[in-house]
Formats: sequence, structure tokens, C-alpha cells
Amino acid sequence: RTVYVNGEYLPETEAKVSIFDRGFLMADAVYEVTSVLGGKLIDFEGHAVRLKRSLDELDMQEPCTKDELLAIHRKLVELNDIDEGMIYLQVTRGSDGDRDFVFPDPETTKPTIVLFTQNKPGLADSPASKKGAKIISIEDIRWGRRDIKTVQLLYPSMGKMMAKAAGADDAWMVEDGYVTEGTSNNAYYVKNGKIITRPLSNDILHGITRKAVLRLAQEAQMEIEERLFTIDEAKEADEAFTTSASAFVMPVVEIDGAMLGDGTPGPIAKRLREIYLDESR
Ligand code: PDD
Repeated sequence: RTVYVNGEYLPETEAKVSIFDRGFLMADAVYEVTSVLGGKLIDFEGHAVRLKRSLDELDMQEPCTKDELLAIHRKLVELNDIDEGMIYLQVTRGSDGDRDFVFPDPETTKPTIVLFTQNKPGLADSPASKKGAKIISIEDIRWGRRDIKTVQLLYPSMGKMMAKAAGADDAWMVEDGYVTEGTSNNAYYVKNGKIITRPLSNDILHGITRKAVLRLAQEAQMEIEERLFTIDEAKEADEAFTTSASAFVMPVVEIDGAMLGDGTPGPIAKRLREIYLDESR
């Protein structure tokens, strides 16, 4: 694989970042995942705008312009011959060669930028999406600025492991009795034809796929309600699903052991996945 590090395209084995980098020492870093379908970037603009917002919220410098970022994305897709897959982008606050809680001087310390591709042939037609996901609920103990896409992913990682240990695929997190989001996706359920999802706030990531899918649902005359919901409501749903750049629209067929509908992906989730993929390809 050819990867990108601070202005250079290099074989992945030759790419280097300082051990003092604050991304490594302090999780002082933000990221984006953009999917690629048919060699085409999906919603680059949305990801670039969210990256800028994450950087601004953390007083971090932009490592390059949006146009440069787009050129890097395109070049990596080409160099690595990606038809279906993902591009991972991370920007850290960099390092001034020591460990300190105080941010380094932005005049002398440049951010670190790293991009690499992940080849995922068959992503759009994945068997997992045809089967649907089994979900468990776990408490949401993450920090209060989940709208900033930081690399603090230890708890979401642990959530995935808890799900695996319970024989499920993923976890939805619950705070003050209400579902926030999935470990790496936004969460929805459907009851009597109506799509219910949590409204945007600092409590969840403002999903780029969420925005696109809600727009498509609206265009398809589907009913949408943005409000808080409990895991018990979701367990009583006709169907449920998640959205993310890495899995598009993923049907959910079981929550905390309760089967939704007939235990297979529901019609609305299937239709939204189809419409989303059609528009993206
Ligand atoms: N995760 N919520 C969380 C906590 C996420 O980590 C993600 C994305 C989403 C969905 O956002 P989007 O539609 O913009 O991908 C919601 C990425 C894919 C990841 O961590 O790999």
C-alpha cells in the first residue's frame, strides 16, 4: 500500500510519525473515513466540512486546503487501485518533541496528517448487510463532545468486544435512559412506517451518511421523527438500522436478544440502503 504522511506518498513500511506525536500520546487527533465505490469518493465535501469543524472546535490548524485534501484522496485511490473500500484520514496536533499537557505553540508545531486506503471488495454487497446486525445495549460512558470526531475510540472498541462476547455484532450506547448512537454509526428504528432517530447535539456524531439518508428518506416520502428514544422502544420496533460511511445503511435484526419483525432486514432499511448505494455509485 502507498500511504500519505505530511506531504509524502510512501510505502506503508516507510511511513513514520514521532513517538512524541500528541495523537499517539494524548489522542489529540481527529479523523474522517470516506468510502469509495466504483473508484469514486462518496460525499468528500461533507467529510471535508466536518473535518474543518472538528479542527476548529479543538483549536487545531488545518494541515492543508480542501482542494489539496481532495487531490490526496484521489491520488491514493488511484495509486492503490481502490474500487470499493475506504480512505482513512487523521490529523493530529503534532509534537514539539516532548510530552506536555499544554498544547505546543502552533507557530512552531505543525499538525501531522496521515491518510491510507483500505481495500474492501464486495463492501456494497456484503453478506453482513443481507443478514442484518445483532445489537446489544451498553452504557454510554464517553466524553461529552461526541460531535467532534476524535480518535478516542477505546470505549467504542470495548463496546464492539462486549457485543462479540455476547454473540452479537455491535453495540448501541445508552445515556440517561436514551440511545445515543452505535459504536461507529448512527442509530434508527422504524415503527408503523415512521423512522425515529436522535436529534443532532453534542451527544452524537453528526453523521455524513445520516444526513444523506435522511434526505433520501424525505425525498421518498418516508416519515421521519428526530427525538430521543429508549432501548425498550427500539426493541418493540418493526425494524431498525444504522448508518455510517463504512457500512452505509446496515439493517438491525435483533436488540438485546429481542428479534425485530421476522428477524430479517426490514423493508425500509433495505430500500434506504438501495437508494443510498444507487445514488452513490
Ligand atoms: N464512524 N457515530 C459514530 C460514533 C461514528 O464513529 C460514526 C462513523 C458515525 C457515522 O458517521 P458517518 O456517517 O459520517 O460515517 C456515527 C467511522 C465510519 C469509523 O469510525 O470508522
